[in-house]
Amino acid sequence: MRVSGLLRLTALFFTLLAVWLFLRSSISLNTKNIRMPRWLGMAPKESQAPKSKCGLSKPCQDNFFAFKISSGAANVVGPSMCFENQILMSPVKNNVGRGLNIALVNGTTGEVMKMSAFDMYLGDPKLLLKFLREISEGVLVLVASYDDPGTKMNDEIRKLFSSLGSNYAKQLGFRDSWVFLGAKDLRSKSPFEQFLKNNPQTNKYEGWPELLELEGCVPKKIL
Ligand SMILES: *[C@@H]1O[C@H](CO)[C@@H](O)[C@H](O)[C@H]1NC(C)=O
Repeated sequence: MRVSGLLRLTALFFTLLAVWLFLRSSISLNTKNIRMPRWLGMAPKESQAPKSKCGLSKPCQDNFFAFKISSGAANVVGPSMCFENQILMSPVKNNVGRGLNIALVNGTTGEVMKMSAFDMYLGDPKLLLKFLREISEGVLVLVASYDDPGTKMNDEIRKLFSSLGSNYAKQLGFRDSWVFLGAKDLRSKSPFEQFLKNNPQTNKYEGWPELLELEGCVPKKIL
């Protein structure tokens, strides 16, 4: 009686342990990447491999910063920005807004310097002008649009964005989608930019084009 009771307890204990281990490893599994649970001994260390910064498909080399920028989706979901695995701006952080969302990062150290959302529909474009004029050399500029980046856009702002390496600031208009990473001392146009014009014929959402995502590795500025 005692022995079988002990056996039952032991069996119960191992069943619970197995269930717990299974749940724990299932939860840590990526949905796209179903593997045997680790405790079955099939994949000893592999599942512990760290994801690359900002969830990039390929990790960046040592002398590069990883970044990922997503524009807003229509006027519903706000934009987000990740830099070196740190979320700078996002709806969860509650620091994004309609218009243009901009973060400034020290191009040498990767330190965040300033973050701000500029309402380009009802806001005062002078605030954005002042912000852009104060950007100094060696600063990385990350930009994500949300809902409407274009209504209050003017030639001076367009020129400043172009001087940061933008190809599309010239034509940015009402409800266009735009994601961009540039810098003041860029010698050529930035390779990090995506743009979609608001066009009722091709819009993904009724009044807005599809959201845009931009990710990559930007070289650290060597002092
Ligand atoms: C970036 O950080 C370095 C080290 O703190 C500093 O010397 C440099 O002036 C900073 N660059 C800018 C543009 O602020």
